[in-house]
Amino acid sequence: MASIVIVDDEKNIRRNLAVFFESLGHRVRAAAGGAEAIAALGDEPADLVLTDVRMAEMDGLRLLEEIKRRDPATVVVLMTAFATVENAVAAMKAGAQDYVTKPFTLDEIRRTLERALELRGLRVENRELRSAVEQAPMLDTESAAMRRLLDTARQAAASDATILLTGESGAGKNVLARQIHQLSPRRDHPFITVNCTTLSEQLLESELFGHMRGSFTGAVKDKPGRLEAAHQGSVFLDEIADLTPALQTKFLRFVQELSFERIGGERTIQVDARIIAATNRDLESEVAAHRFREDLFYRLNVISLRVPPLRERAGDIVPLARWLLRAAGLRNRRPNLRFSAEAETALRRHRWPGNIRELRNAVERAAVLCRSDEITPDDLPDSIFREPGDPGPAPAAAGAAQRPPSLEDVEREHIRRVLAETATLEEAADTLGINVTTLWRKRRRYRIE
Ligand SMILES: Nc1ncnc2c1ncn2[C@@H]1O[C@H](COP(=O)(O)OP(=O)(O)OP(=O)(O)O)[C@@H](O)[C@H]1O
Ligand SMILES: [Mg+2]
Repeated sequence: MASIVIVDDEKNIRRNLAVFFESLGHRVRAAAGGAEAIAALGDEPADLVLTDVRMAEMDGLRLLEEIKRRDPATVVVLMTAFATVENAVAAMKAGAQDYVTKPFTLDEIRRTLERALELRGLRVENRELRSAVEQAPMLDTESAAMRRLLDTARQAAASDATILLTGESGAGKNVLARQIHQLSPRRDHPFITVNCTTLSEQLLESELFGHMRGSFTGAVKDKPGRLEAAHQGSVFLDEIADLTPALQTKFLRFVQELSFERIGGERTIQVDARIIAATNRDLESEVAAHRFREDLFYRLNVISLRVPPLRERAGDIVPLARWLLRAAGLRNRRPNLRFSAEAETALRRHRWPGNIRELRNAVERAAVLCRSDEITPDDLPDSIFREPGDPGPAPAAAGAAQRPPSLEDVEREHIRRVLAETATLEEAADTLGINVTTLWRKRRRYRIE
């Protein structure tokens, strides 16, 4: 059953179609014109809109545009009396799913409708799949340091102050940079990432600042730079420590004045952009070693945010792993994947030198390789068991279970026992000496039923 809106200024057509679609089991609303249709969709979205093209007050193509502007997912089918190629092309270009030519038989309109609804189903499924793949980051955290960082990031996002993100490789600097942009008033404008490592100095310079035709061999036409594209948005300068000395100098001016000239150009271009920079190196020692300009460092280091390595937020390892597993499971069409208790213990004990990136890779691999829906330590990379400097033998198979329990293991067991022995959550919280919210969170984290 679908929810359908029929738009036609002829009352008879509206009524006949409504009766017919209702007899097929759909839920139908009818509108006499574009404005009425928009109002109906505002009250409650529909799966499909079937609209006449030639209407007095707002024609079907304008209505189509308006519907697509509000919700691109709504399927629109047009009814037209003039089946010309031009009409059809215009309709498809504007985003119509299909069109039928008047007069049509009920059987024809039924088939058109079924086809359109089927396509819509496919599209929705695709979209859900895509959003699972480009999944939002997990921002809940058990770590006080991480919570402070996110609070500061949120505050800083509201301003235009330059932000410098530091932290180990894989800790989540790129993710945080994008998050800051999303939280900022600039969120509807571009977020432009400039990776300072990837290109040669000349290419990077022209990529960033643009160039005029003939300014160097191969500059066959004028080309705007990426910094211009960031107007009103944010520029993310990734791996900033890799900038060459010459580019550091050019950048200093950009960071100070937000203005520059294209290579070979005369005109000064002014952009309105917020700058976020990131590095996994220690910029202060780069400055001390005269590899990074001190003045540029101070310009960038207005608000400095250090993203903690994963091992410093050990409480987040398992929740993050579960989060990543959900996404990996959806992508691999294995939505029921979960970690065994032993696997979670192993994840929790690893030091994660590659941080969230390493965790993500381990989870992806397990999601593909594991045979049943339960991921065991065997499904995790060997490195997770062979820690450098780890006391005692740690054969991969027996691994985790033989080690003394961690503080978290003890806590989990203790909470489990107290919960089993008490009647209410309040009583358990009281016995444990923590408040109910904390208990509730811990219970969820340890997956205690
Ligand atoms: N909060 C998060 N939730 C989910 N995934 C995350 C989160 N933070 C980071 N990731 C994932 O971890 C990986 C590494 O993150 P990111 O690229 O942001 O790290 P980085 O600090 O920029 O690393 P590098 O210094 O190597 O550039 C990415 O695949 C990213 O999607
Ligand atoms: Mg990065």
